[in-house]
Amino acid sequence: MALFDNENVNVDVLKKRAFNYRWAEVPDGTIPLTAADPDYPVAPEIREAMMAYINDGYFSYTPKMGYPEFRESIARALYARKQEKIDPDLILPIDSAARGMYVIAETFLRPGDEMIVFDPVDYLFKESALAAGAVPVLFPAVLKDGHIDLSELEKYITPKTRMIGLCNPHNPYGVVYRKEDLEHIMGLCEKYGLYIMNDEIWSDIVFPEKPFISIYALGNERCRRVYSVFGFSKSFGIAGLRAGCVYCTDRDGFEKIVNKSAVLTTAGGIASISQIAGTACMDKCYYWVDEFLAHLKKNRDYALERLSSMPLITCHKPQATYLLFPCIKEFGMTSEEFTDYLKEKVQLALVSGGEQFFGPGSQGYCRICFATSAEILKEGLDRLEKGIHLLIQERNL
Ligand SMILES: Cc1ncc(COP(=O)(O)O)c(C=O)c1O
Repeated sequence: MALFDNENVNVDVLKKRAFNYRWAEVPDGTIPLTAADPDYPVAPEIREAMMAYINDGYFSYTPKMGYPEFRESIARALYARKQEKIDPDLILPIDSAARGMYVIAETFLRPGDEMIVFDPVDYLFKESALAAGAVPVLFPAVLKDGHIDLSELEKYITPKTRMIGLCNPHNPYGVVYRKEDLEHIMGLCEKYGLYIMNDEIWSDIVFPEKPFISIYALGNERCRRVYSVFGFSKSFGIAGLRAGCVYCTDRDGFEKIVNKSAVLTTAGGIASISQIAGTACMDKCYYWVDEFLAHLKKNRDYALERLSSMPLITCHKPQATYLLFPCIKEFGMTSEEFTDYLKEKVQLALVSGGEQFFGPGSQGYCRICFATSAEILKEGLDRLEKGIHLLIQERNL
């Protein structure tokens, strides 16, 4: 049986374990193409490493800065996969990319400071700014020729702006930034003395047509005010283990991050077993990611073909992520009304666009996660098609 065959998706277990809008939170019979979390069990190497650790029977305190071998594994993988040259001493393992974003915001933002948050983007950018008492300033991120149009970005910078949030690759658009885009953003940061919160959690899930370019490609010297997060949830399917890291190139800034993270008091930090899993991911499981990507590419292309034959819905082709972000404005209803309708009439759960998850600019869109089997995806898209035809009939569209 191949790794990404339908038989490997264990819906009975998922119904007990997969939360956050997924199988365990939808009524029986509903297909959730919702939160970005694979439907597949993790690579065997992750389980083996965890079992070996568990079998020793000790669950003592870990080094406050995380296991050195974990930090080294992350540094090696960042360099081998993405050409990011990061000193392992400037990598802080932490309990999720989400937590890393909060720590970055709380370290560098003061109450009343402004952070530029793209609209749409994952809600954690806005939430982390708010948690720091800062003001998220929404930049309407419009897609133009398959890229985010940054030509108006500078207009959103005020004397209070202190940070720009960069989601590369971008969730929910699935866009990989071009080098000139990163240059543009960096140029503004240099001109106005801003920090960058650089979220690369999606940087492994990039399709071959448009290779990933990290902001570090501009040179580490220029990235002294860039604070990055990576996480293991998207590439390796260990969201429940809460594993991630913050990294940077500036030693003083790193110390501030460490202090704010509370790892030194043991009030913060990441569980030992999550670090063991994370180390196995970095050292042994990129073959799994590569196979996953090949599977995802087939799913993406199939889903796009299906969507292109459905009336009134349109969708751009993502260069990265396992997310589609179709426009549903032609139905003349809100995103919430559209997704509620599908849930009720055809038992399909999608993530609604709109204020809650991605910002007001995502109104009129919905998000489809395709990190599942070809069979479940087909069933989900069959239901979407049926729902769309029902809607058209009912409303005389
Ligand atoms: C862009 C982005 N950043 C951060 C996260 C959070 O990841 P984690 O599970 O490591 O907290 C997600 C999860 O969906 C995401 O899409």
